[in-house]
Amino acid sequence: MTVTITHEGAIAVVTIDNPPVNALSQGLRQALMEAVSAIDADATTSAAVLICAGRTFIAGADVSEFGKLPAPPHLPDIVAAIEGSRKPWVAAIHGSALGSGLEVALGCAYRVAVASANLGLPEVKLGIIPGAGGTVRLPRLIGAAAAVDLVTSGDPVDARKALALGLVDAVVEGELLLAAIAFAREIADKPRPQRISERTVPPVENGFWERAGKAVMAKAKREIAPLRALACIREASEADFATATAFEREMFLELRGSTQAAALRHVFFAERAAYRPSDIAGVMPRNIRSAAVVGGGTMGAGIAAALRDAGLPVVLIERDQAAVERGLANIRQIFEGSVKRGRMSPAVATERMAGVVGTNDYDQLADTDLVIEVVFEDLAVKRAVFGRLAEVCRADTVLATNTSYLDPEEIGEGLTQPERFLGLHFFSPAHVMKLLEIVPTRKTATEILATGFALARLLGKIPVRTGICDGFIGNRILKVTRMQAERLLLSGGMPEAVDAAMRAFGLPMGPFEAQDLGGLDIAAFQRKAAHARGETPFAPVADRLCAMGRLGQKTGGGWYDYQPGERTAKPSDIVTAIIAEEASGWSQKIWGEAAIADAIVLPMVNEAALILDEGIATRAADIDLVKIHGYGFPRWRGGPMHYAQTRGLAEIVAVLDRLSISGLAEPPCDALRRAAEDGSFQSRERR
Ligand code: NAI
Repeated sequence: MTVTITHEGAIAVVTIDNPPVNALSQGLRQALMEAVSAIDADATTSAAVLICAGRTFIAGADVSEFGKLPAPPHLPDIVAAIEGSRKPWVAAIHGSALGSGLEVALGCAYRVAVASANLGLPEVKLGIIPGAGGTVRLPRLIGAAAAVDLVTSGDPVDARKALALGLVDAVVEGELLLAAIAFAREIADKPRPQRISERTVPPVENGFWERAGKAVMAKAKREIAPLRALACIREASEADFATATAFEREMFLELRGSTQAAALRHVFFAERAAYRPSDIAGVMPRNIRSAAVVGGGTMGAGIAAALRDAGLPVVLIERDQAAVERGLANIRQIFEGSVKRGRMSPAVATERMAGVVGTNDYDQLADTDLVIEVVFEDLAVKRAVFGRLAEVCRADTVLATNTSYLDPEEIGEGLTQPERFLGLHFFSPAHVMKLLEIVPTRKTATEILATGFALARLLGKIPVRTGICDGFIGNRILKVTRMQAERLLLSGGMPEAVDAAMRAFGLPMGPFEAQDLGGLDIAAFQRKAAHARGETPFAPVADRLCAMGRLGQKTGGGWYDYQPGERTAKPSDIVTAIIAEEASGWSQKIWGEAAIADAIVLPMVNEAALILDEGIATRAADIDLVKIHGYGFPRWRGGPMHYAQTRGLAEIVAVLDRLSISGLAEPPCDALRRAAEDGSFQSRERR
C-alpha cells in the first residue's frame, strides 16, 4: 500500500495504490491524513488531485475490518480533514467510488469522473449505513430526494447520472489524470465553493418524508438498514451538520452490531468464497467460447438466454422443426419480456436472438465447447441424447445435464470420456435465478468441475457444489419444507396462516402459494417416483388435491381457489374440508406465526445438518447460498444454517425434540445434536 504525492506545477497529485481495489485500510487512512497535512504545509501547492492507481478509485472499506472496531485514524476525521484542507481537493474517479470511497470523494471540493465510473453508497446491502458523513453530506450536495434513492437502495449510479444529479462536477474524456490536473488548475484561482458540510439541504415538498417512508418500508420489508438510512437523511435535512453527523454515527454503530448486519456479512463472504472451493484451487478451467442447449422448453430457453446474456453463441437443439420454432419463440419471449420491462433495448434483444441458432441437426454441435442437456426428466430420453452427443461432439466438449432428480451417474453411464460430464442444475427462471448447483459424478475430472465454477462466474451465477442424492441440496430440503407444511395443516394451521407466517419470516411466498404458482404436479411426480423406489412420501392433502386435478393456478385451483384469469388466492372450502378429513386423529393446536416458522425452518436445518454430514454439501455456508439464491430464503437472515447458528443450535435441538414428541417433525439427527454440542456446524473442508 502506498500513497504518493507528486507535483505538477502548483497541483499536488495524491496517488493511492492499494491493490486490488484501493480499499480504505488503516494504513491508507493514516497515509491520507499525513498527505493532507503535507499539502496544507506546502506553500507552492494551490490545489490537490486525489487519484487511484489500478483498476478503480477507492471501491470501499477494507473487508477485513467488516464488523470490527476499526483502528484510528477514523474515516470521518479523514473526510473532515480533506474537506477542511487549506487547498481545494479534486477527486479523480475511475472504476468505482463506493461506500467510504464516495465518502472520501464527498470530502473533496470537486469530483470529476470518467464516463465508465460508477458511484454509490451500498452500505445498506451489508445491513449498515454510511458511517463517515455520507448520509449527511450527500443530501447537502444533491438534495434529499436523490440522496434517499441512492442511500436506501444502495444501488450505484453511472458517471452521467452522477453528473445530472450534481454528484460529480464533470465527466472527463481522455486520460483521467491529465484531465483532473487541468480541472484543478482551472479551479485553483476561482473562489472555492462552500464546503458541503456548511451547506443546508434544500427544503422538500410537503409529505415527502411520509411518502419516502412508505416506499422504503415497502421495499425493505423487514430489513432495518434502509429505514435507518432514511432517518439519517431526514435528520441531515432538518438538523445542523454536527447534530446529523452524531445521529448518523449512533445509527451506524447500532447497525454494525446488529444481527441483520452479521447475517448480510456472512452471505457476502459466503458468496465471495463460493467461487473458490478448496478442491479446485489452482486448477485451470476449460475455456468456454460456445455453447449449446438440447431442449428448448421452460428451462432450456432460460439457460439459452443466460448463455447469450454472457455473450456466448448458442445452438438450440430440439426434436423436430416445429419444436425448434417453439424453443426459439420461448427464448424470444424472454428477451421481449426484458425489453417490455425496460431492462434491455430492442436492439440488444435482436442481437441476443441473432446469436441463437435453432436446429434439430446434431451435426451443428461438432465444434461446441459446452452442451447442456435440458430435455424431459426421463432417464431413457436423456441417455439417448448423450449417446448422440458422444457421436457428434469433440472428445473434449464439456457435457452437462440439468436434471433435477435423476441420478447423473446413471445419465452419464456408458458415455465416452465420462470425465467431461457433470450436472449443472439451474433454477427456474434460469436467466434470472442466481443459483447454480454443480453436480460432479465420481468420474468428473477436476478440470471439468472447475469449468462449472468458471461458467457460473461467466453467467453471473452463484455456484454451489453438491453431491448426488434425491433433489441434491436444494430440492431435498424443499421436500422437508413441504412435508412440514402438510403436518401443520393436519394439526390446525390453515394454508393462509402458514403462508402468512412464512412471509412474515421473510420469504417472498409461503409454501402453499408457491406450489399453486409452480403447479402441484411437479412434487406429485417426485412422490410417484419415490413410491416406485419403495419410499412412503407424506403428503395426504396434496395427494388428494392432485387426484382431483387441483394443480394450482393453472387449473383454477390448488391450495386456494382462483377466479378465472386472476391470481388472487382465496381460501377454499374444498381444501378446508379435505384437511378436516385427513386431520382426523391428529390433535389440533393453535399455531402462532413464530411457531409455524419454527415448524418449517428448523426441520430444514435438521435436513441441512444431514446433508452436510453426508458430504452432499461441503460447507454450511453453501447451504445458506442454495436457500437464499434458489428458494428466496431472506438474505438478511443469512440462510438457514446461519439463522440456526444465531438462534443457538441447542435451542434448535430442543424445539425439534418437542415437535417430534408430538409427531410434528422428525427428531433432530445425530449430526445436529453433535453440532449443538460443538456449538457450530463443521464443514467438510475444515475436517
Ligand atoms: P419442458 O417440458 O418445458 O421442456 C423439455 C423440452 O425438451 C421440450 O421442449 C421438448 O421438446 C424437448 N425435448 C424432449 N426430448 C428431446 C430430445 N430428444 N431432443 C431435443 N429436445 C427434446 O421441461 P423443463 O421444465 O424445461 O425441464 C427440462 C429439464 O430441466 C428436466 O430435466 C427438469 O427436471 C429440469 N429442471 C426443471 C426445472 C423447472 O423448474 N421446470 C428446474 C430445474 C431443472
